[in-house]
Amino acid sequence: MAIRISEDGRLIRLETKTSVYQMKTDAFGTLWHTHYGEKTGEDDLSYALYMRQRGHSCNPYEVGMTDRSYSLELIPQELGCFGGSDFRSPALRVRFADGARTLQLRFESCRAENGKYALDALPASYDETGDAQTLTVRLTDAEAKIAVELRYGVFEEADVITRTMRVINESDAPVFLEKAASLCVDFPRGDYELLTFCGRWAKERIPERLPLRQGMNAIGSTRGFSGARFNPSAMLLEQGATETYGKAYGFAFVYSGDFLLEAERDTIVGTRVLLGINPDTFEWKLAPHEAFQTPEALMTFSDSGISGISLRFHRFISRHIVRGTWRAKPRPVLLNNWEGTYFNFDGEKLVQMARRAAEAGVELFVLDDGWFGARDDDKRALGDWTPNEKKLGCTLAELADRIRAEGLQFGLWFEPEAISEDSDLYRAHPDWAVAIPGRKPSLSRYELLLDLSRRDVQDYLIRELSDRIREAKLTYLKWDLNRSLCDRYTASLPAERQGEMPHRYILGTYRVLDALCKAFPDLLIESCASGGSRFDAGMLCYTPQIWTSDDTDPIERLQIQHGTSMIYPVSTMGAHVSASPNHQTGRVTSMKTRATVAMSGTFGYELDATKLTDAETAQMRRQIETFHALYDLLQHGDYYRLLPPDSDSATVWEQAACDGSRALVNIIVHGVRPSPLEKRFLVQGLCDEKNYRISLIDPDDLAKLPPRQQELFGGGILSGRTLRTVGLYVPEGALSREESGDYPSYQILIEQI
Ligand code: DGJ
Repeated sequence: MAIRISEDGRLIRLETKTSVYQMKTDAFGTLWHTHYGEKTGEDDLSYALYMRQRGHSCNPYEVGMTDRSYSLELIPQELGCFGGSDFRSPALRVRFADGARTLQLRFESCRAENGKYALDALPASYDETGDAQTLTVRLTDAEAKIAVELRYGVFEEADVITRTMRVINESDAPVFLEKAASLCVDFPRGDYELLTFCGRWAKERIPERLPLRQGMNAIGSTRGFSGARFNPSAMLLEQGATETYGKAYGFAFVYSGDFLLEAERDTIVGTRVLLGINPDTFEWKLAPHEAFQTPEALMTFSDSGISGISLRFHRFISRHIVRGTWRAKPRPVLLNNWEGTYFNFDGEKLVQMARRAAEAGVELFVLDDGWFGARDDDKRALGDWTPNEKKLGCTLAELADRIRAEGLQFGLWFEPEAISEDSDLYRAHPDWAVAIPGRKPSLSRYELLLDLSRRDVQDYLIRELSDRIREAKLTYLKWDLNRSLCDRYTASLPAERQGEMPHRYILGTYRVLDALCKAFPDLLIESCASGGSRFDAGMLCYTPQIWTSDDTDPIERLQIQHGTSMIYPVSTMGAHVSASPNHQTGRVTSMKTRATVAMSGTFGYELDATKLTDAETAQMRRQIETFHALYDLLQHGDYYRLLPPDSDSATVWEQAACDGSRALVNIIVHGVRPSPLEKRFLVQGLCDEKNYRISLIDPDDLAKLPPRQQELFGGGILSGRTLRTVGLYVPEGALSREESGDYPSYQILIEQI
């Protein structure tokens, strides 16, 4: 049993493979958070939480005359609320009809059930393996007539606990929710470091690790979607924790809208971590007897450092977030025309590109922006999802047939949430665009957003997209989004409910995606937001892969994919080989290096295939063959970061089969030096007692090595234990410019014999 509840219902223990989470109700009905971390004995762990009287602490009325050391601000709690004697950032703040905001929640009941809860209208993790149980804890404020249900999904084998909250207004007057965080964990210590994933367009999810300062440490988004600036995920690390050592906690949000992640280090008791919808842009009116459901948050614990968190999240996201046909089915290698042509193409050009791509073994052709309405640049036509037959030289269905006749499947780009002022859709429905009546809205990439909080707009999109999917028999759809949400207003809600608009917008987006997933279960949807600006576990519930970044330079991608891999698995990260010199940086790299990086993502190409030489097409064919041969390892192997991109000279990462039978080591030399130093790395995920054969995948690489290294990398045999403890080194020569040129790459296969 992953969930154990004491007979009197006061002590609750959630147990996963390597962690324990415990909560305890005290004599006053306060629900304490007593432990999250390594496995412990089955004791009541509240004894270890130290509490003594502090000046200016307030005491709940019932205890105020008897125990001055009892203050909510000194107690680690399952749900910190605003207004009582807890002055830390609250997980829940409610404004009552009289303007008061104090909530005093007390434990009422709890129950455990087999299986994983599902959420209405919101994405959530699921379980088909029989691994999960659900705990529901009900807390109530009898005077204010507010009830809260905390729900926990306990995935024992996957080592992940999920949490969500439902707030119910049981009174006869409306109340306003001002803040409703999904996750609240009070740690009894303060000396942690916070690892977040920060960036900007074309530089998404770069890790930043800082010690917690006393006070508030927070990241978030108010852009209407999760954004490129801060990812809705983080890790809390004990000081000294490394990639492979030390205690670490991981958090991720199954939500794609405005979020706030807070790590508040108190000057006395410890650290409170909150993750939820951003209260700055949120308010929700709860009419009498209505309930509000928060999105789901995920948490995991590892005592093997950062990589322990990554491995747990990778497995969890692959098995319990990503769903449907494409969860396990091999994804097709694609050619996307965007960087190959931008808006300048016609039907003939596309067919020629598809023909060349088919020769190289590409399986899916994706027609990106510019195929509809008057869309010859990015100033117009968003919303007019009518194929531009003049530009294509035929109907969309005919073009799709021609591409299929070349042996490729066909996929199409949309930016469903956007609308251009210069579009037929805007001329017909100006009120569908997000704007404040009587005021000029902000533009972004010349565009506006559709008001997806409106049901009529959602229905229109479901119809339009479904028609195109049927018409062109699409096997793939790219769902792009290229602007933030501002000038928030919806004609569908009264003034006092405008604070609901951003969350309703995301619910609307989810409803459209859900309808498409249900109507077209075999359609592969890849989401995208100006590259990787909406990369979160919420989108992954509908779209099994996400375009990681508009930056396709492989050397830049090392950092971007490294940071993304801390939370998200390879099988979710869109990665393409583009042209050299690269369009974003002008950097020149070999096609081999570009492919080595892109293979550690959902692999594809994004270039003008008609410009490839025969030799390049042949090279592409070999790359695709290698990708297919190593598909399981690359996409589903356990992922280890062996040398990070900010290390001197080389980035190294590895995918190992879950049973330790083989592994692939990928090496990119990102800094050539005239007199290089040895670069050694330790191979992970193998069996100590087994022996392994080591071979470079590309025979041309081997021929360039000095004889002693040819022996090692051309079939040398070492034990798993030696590979783990002594390791391998980056092949010599690669590190110096004279012998190898810039940015050489290697793939080394390690196979059990
Ligand atoms: C932004 C995306 O990130 C690109 O891949 C491409 O689809 C363009 N939009 C098209 O406008």
